[in-house]
Amino acid sequence: MRSKISVIGAGNVGASVAQFVALKDLGDVFLFDVVDGVPEGKGLDIMEGTPHWGVDSVVKGFTTVDSGKYENLKGSDVIVVTAGLARKPGMSRDDLLAKNVQIIKSVAENVKKYSPDSVVVIVSNPADTMAYAFQKVSGINPKKIIGLGGSLDSSRFRTFLAMEIGASVQDVNAFVIGGHGDDMVPFVRYSSVGGIPIESILSKEKIDEIVKRTRFGGGEIVEYLKTGSAYYAPGIAVAAMVESIIRDKRRMIPCASYVDDETAKHYSAKGLFIGLPILIGEHGVEKIFKIDFNTEEKALWDKTVQSVKGNAEKVDSFLSQE
Ligand code: LAC
Repeated sequence: MRSKISVIGAGNVGASVAQFVALKDLGDVFLFDVVDGVPEGKGLDIMEGTPHWGVDSVVKGFTTVDSGKYENLKGSDVIVVTAGLARKPGMSRDDLLAKNVQIIKSVAENVKKYSPDSVVVIVSNPADTMAYAFQKVSGINPKKIIGLGGSLDSSRFRTFLAMEIGASVQDVNAFVIGGHGDDMVPFVRYSSVGGIPIESILSKEKIDEIVKRTRFGGGEIVEYLKTGSAYYAPGIAVAAMVESIIRDKRRMIPCASYVDDETAKHYSAKGLFIGLPILIGEHGVEKIFKIDFNTEEKALWDKTVQSVKGNAEKVDSFLSQE
């Protein structure tokens, strides 16, 4: 039987995810949005291209103005949540929190009602915080909820390193952990090209520059676009996560995952969702790797944990007022 992937939110990011998922022939795609006609139109548009791709993906859209349409989430193997506002110039991802938490709440209630066994990928920003909110509202097993972050940030980090070194992106191995915010942690010490540490290839000044560009990679695109934020790289970064789930590839893609008591002994951040080096498979988060931090890395880690924690506290207070 073909897999079913539902994408909630048919804006630029949602539509990109739908297109890449269909292109990779991962299954049939169900696209949902509150704006009348948009999910139907974009779904049909994507599907009309499938003959050129040689894939048999069915892409269907549903306007959720009548929330009864959420019934079509039933039986989803994976649900990707992109619903919410995106950034405009001058805004941080955290500025979106109050608005997006309301949207996530309603989505979480519907997922809980119609498809509580799906693996859920949260893309709405701030993604780690929205994963936290989604879990609180839905009560879904936290190991089945993964937030976008590292998948995209690592892709940007690898791209910038490859551009500087003049090497193929394929041979650049690098990842980003922590929150999907301005104090995310590009993990320099474990970054390499063909196994050779980047610290022995690039100067410290160059590496610092690339780390900074990575941290503000999302903002750089927002500044160019002016009316919205990135969607091509986010779309493929999410499709890679969906592929690892659907095909049970167990790819190591750092993403926001739940910190249970055992993991908190190593990483602190207990009860939060934050970017960690994880294996993604059919059950969601299959394994979390522990990295030993040096003093400098520990300071960066503690800082990002504090930011993510601050946002989680805002979510708690918002949800307790409801
Ligand atoms: C970005 C958004 C998707 O980083 O968070 O571009």
